[in-house]
Amino acid sequence: MAVDIKQIRAQFPALHQEVHGHPLIYFDNAATSQKPKMVVDAIAHYYNKENSNIHRGVHYLSQKATDKYELAREAIRRFINAPSTEEIIITRGTTEAINLVSSCLSKWLFQPGDEIIISAIEHHSNIVPWQMACEQSGAILKVIPVLDSGELDMNAYRNLLSDKTKFVTVNHISNALGTINPVEEITSLAHEKGALVLIDGAQATPHMSVDVQSLNADFYCFSAHKMYGPTGVGVLFGKKEILEKMPPYHGGGEMIKEVKFEGTTYNDLPFKFEAGTPNIVGGIGIEASIRFIEEIGIENIAQQEAELLAYATQRLKDIGGIRFIGEAKEKAGVISFIIDGVHPYDAGTILDKLGIAIRTGHHCAQPVMDRYSIPGTMRASFAVYNTKEEIDTFIEGVQKVKQLFT
Ligand SMILES: Cc1ncc(COP(=O)(O)O)c(C=O)c1O
Repeated sequence: MAVDIKQIRAQFPALHQEVHGHPLIYFDNAATSQKPKMVVDAIAHYYNKENSNIHRGVHYLSQKATDKYELAREAIRRFINAPSTEEIIITRGTTEAINLVSSCLSKWLFQPGDEIIISAIEHHSNIVPWQMACEQSGAILKVIPVLDSGELDMNAYRNLLSDKTKFVTVNHISNALGTINPVEEITSLAHEKGALVLIDGAQATPHMSVDVQSLNADFYCFSAHKMYGPTGVGVLFGKKEILEKMPPYHGGGEMIKEVKFEGTTYNDLPFKFEAGTPNIVGGIGIEASIRFIEEIGIENIAQQEAELLAYATQRLKDIGGIRFIGEAKEKAGVISFIIDGVHPYDAGTILDKLGIAIRTGHHCAQPVMDRYSIPGTMRASFAVYNTKEEIDTFIEGVQKVKQLFT
């Protein structure tokens, strides 16, 4: 094995506890990951020693906090290989990043009759903002269908594209199915029609290497809390030439150069899109989470999780009576499934009593559940700190659920 699991697990205090009298098995990583000590320590250190507002003070602490925050921006830039820190906007998370883009483009780009393409396997946060954009601008929403396998129907996508297409957005990895979408191809096909592209990378950055330059999407966004960092902070990458033309999102401090009652001039990038005091400690937390990932190596993380996925999938198949929802060839460490005749909620409750945390329900992707005519799924999602031994215990739990209900 490429990673030292014992050493990695030692960095996560939350993993070393009992739940309902059993050692915790945490398989809800697609919702949020646990936090390593180095992230928690970086946050505590900032509040204990460095707390100050940034970008406006001449005093020591303010400059120190500003330097750290801007170093975090540089770490983010390097992490996704963006050309410049001007293109890195720190947001409250993926949801805010998408809302920023949809709201600004509604004011600036979309005209009645324009078409916005999303996919059938989006998280609600990459559906609702585009519905709102359509309401505001008169644009029309189109949806790329999903095949039974959980893969997007690329022929249907090609047919949806036209001169009316102004914008295309899909997730890099589906949180509900684990499908890794062919985002390079989706992006280049959209660009052929002159459309802009946003990739929702919330489920990708924790698990695979992301290079926004080779991807070539116009926008890419993600959340720190799914990649071992704090909640309430995330990133929007946007190409400079587009961000420069886009009107600002929120108005307030930071995003201005000069304010007069006659009119205001806006700040340079990226500050034009960062109104108000930002989540400073969140930025510092992201930097620590990137350091954590880089110390292990994203390729090693991907390999560990691929092994867990293959092992758990095979063991579930061996049980029998399991329906897998989403069996794409390119898949991340997410298994969505249903035990025949058992409601996912009941199964999840029993597993919880055994100390096993999985997610049950629609995973903020109700259209996916409608597509497969199911009320929800059980979802086990892995992180680098999970083990095959945990999967063995999980399989025993699933067998127990089956015995109880069938
Ligand atoms: C694919 C995807 N997009 C967007 C989001 C929203 O992320 P956040 O709640 O951190 O803004 C999630 C969260 O589960 C997700 O999985």
